[in-house]
Amino acid sequence: MNLSMVSNYLHIIAMSVWVGGMFYIMLVEVPVLRNSLGSSDFTSNMTLLGKRFQKVGWFLLLILLITGLSNIMLEDSIADMMKNDNYAKSIVAKLILFTLMVVNTAIHTFYLGPKMSNLAKKSSAEDNDDLSEEYNKLKKRSMISSGFSLLLSLVIVYYGLIASKI
Ligand code: HEM
Repeated sequence: MNLSMVSNYLHIIAMSVWVGGMFYIMLVEVPVLRNSLGSSDFTSNMTLLGKRFQKVGWFLLLILLITGLSNIMLEDSIADMMKNDNYAKSIVAKLILFTLMVVNTAIHTFYLGPKMSNLAKKSSAEDNDDLSEEYNKLKKRSMISSGFSLLLSLVIVYYGLIASKI
């Protein structure tokens, strides 16, 4: 195994855990917790599991960035590869979509998540319809933002495959 294979191997493993993790949350965690727990237990369990996945997720995004860049640096000839339109376009597309995904994940981690946790705590202390309405709005935005990250990842995988075929 040479360095380029190691880099590609780590890239693929990190991609699988990142995309697989999001599918797992959507297809297994959310439906099981929703069917078996009441609303406030559902929220606290989702928060606990979500916080852990966010930590793992940020690490995976870092690995994807590092191994993505080393995939490029370890090409036999970067100059020749970049002359290929499809390769250059895939890399530019990947970098743009990756940046969007990082911004979207940051909004989820540092804005939506903490705001939802605070509201959940407040609305369990006082029974207030306005709070729970705001909470439901945030929950919807957070679902949309998670779906957006998954969609972006699937498009990035597509461009990864184009780049690797060249
Ligand atoms: C800054 C971010 C990234 C850069 C610069 C990058 C770069 C690359 C490059 C250069 C390749 C081609 C490797 C080769 O020569 O075979 C590649 C492959 C690939 N990338 Fe990325 N990548 C990035 C992020 C991602 C992300 C976030 C995902 C998925 C969520 C992803 C999924 C893939 C896949 C599935 C392949 C194909 C692997 C193969 O079949 O060999 N990449 N990437």
